[in-house]
Amino acid sequence: MEIITAVKGFKDILPPETDKWRHIEETAHKVFCAFGFREIRIPLLEKTELFCRGIGESTDIVEKEMYTFLDRGEESLTLRPEATASVIRAYLEHNLHAAETVTKLYTIGPMFRRERPQKGRYRQFHQIDTEILGPDDPRTDAELILMLLHFLDKLGLQSLNLEINSLGCAACRPAFREAILSFLRGREEELCGDCRRRIGTNPLRVFDCKVETCAAIISQAPLLPDFLCAGCRDHFEKVQALLRLFDLPFHLNAKMVRGLDYYTRTTFEVTTEFLGAQNAVVGGGRYDHLVRELGGPDISGIGFAIGFERLAAMIPEADADALPQGPLLFIATLGEAALGKAFFLCNGLRMKGIRVEMDHAGRSLKSQMKRADKLRSAYTLILGEREIAENKALLRNMLSSTQTEVGLDSLEETITELVR
Ligand code: HAM
Repeated sequence: MEIITAVKGFKDILPPETDKWRHIEETAHKVFCAFGFREIRIPLLEKTELFCRGIGESTDIVEKEMYTFLDRGEESLTLRPEATASVIRAYLEHNLHAAETVTKLYTIGPMFRRERPQKGRYRQFHQIDTEILGPDDPRTDAELILMLLHFLDKLGLQSLNLEINSLGCAACRPAFREAILSFLRGREEELCGDCRRRIGTNPLRVFDCKVETCAAIISQAPLLPDFLCAGCRDHFEKVQALLRLFDLPFHLNAKMVRGLDYYTRTTFEVTTEFLGAQNAVVGGGRYDHLVRELGGPDISGIGFAIGFERLAAMIPEADADALPQGPLLFIATLGEAALGKAFFLCNGLRMKGIRVEMDHAGRSLKSQMKRADKLRSAYTLILGEREIAENKALLRNMLSSTQTEVGLDSLEETITELVR
């Protein structure tokens, strides 16, 4: 019979990759906690309307990438394509804004987008998402970016490129929209079909077009930072000054428009040469109207999401090797009585939190030792009839190949000493 494989674009994360993932998660918990963030866990499924309203009807995500279905023919539900809209939904539903003036939340988990799968792009992928709800001052933007870069640094990541831009606000964006529209309308014939369509739906998206002829035209287009109102310009300059104050190198990228409609003012991405075509590891920015658009009060927000798979792909293998892997002890056995005794000893040690392995199948000593080697066990103990009768056995250090005799009754203490 044929085996059933996973769905296209949905990937299994296997050990030892999972060790790396846990290391990343633990680092995130530690770093974010120091910056005052608390973890939130939100459902994978939401009402479709949340994302239509939150992300924007004319974005690629909402137009063509969502996994949407009618729940028993009644209600339209969607597997979350991102976390920001869900975090705000929960923030409003549970009135978190009434409890605090600043709410810092983070969440780690799978997101779903029906994109064309390729290296670094999946249909189920994971994000480490953070959101700060409340303040709209430039210091909050800088603090969030500082935390992000500190986190990436803690993971030993280099060759990263921080790009920032300002997308303006409801006051200054319409003028820019008009300017870009009149620029595009004059060149409609030369644009690709997608860009022509974008003129009527979401003209800012043309900056993301990968078609060469479009890119050439768009390189002449008016740029958003030239249209910022005094308030937005001042905000953006202060964010940059703070980043310089902390010696954080960045590039201004006036063409970075981001793929979601909710952004205002500061937006940023972290990119790397290392990942090839899918070079964005992190995307984020400020959203000063989203909370209100989702039915809440006038509260600002800013956040980012890190692509977990892309981040993990950049962590050097040497670092992953340094993670704890093999068991501390492997007990090899000869005969039925030894199997029984080993099972008992194993259980005792495991109850103490010590990782011990054995073989229940009564295979040859040679194959058991091979397995101990493969598992990279630090120590082995061979138990046979004689060892049981004498109540002692040889504990072998697999790295130094030295052996010491241990009493079976004091095995627990001896091993516990070793892990100290
Ligand atoms: P985003 O730019 O759509 O932003 O996604 C953030 C990151 O998720 C990307 O930079 C990338 O690393 C990863 N990513 C996105 N799609 C895929 C995919 N199909 N396969 C693998 N990785 C992917 C957001 O999602 C915003 N919610 C970020 C945010 C939070 N803005 C404010 N708060």
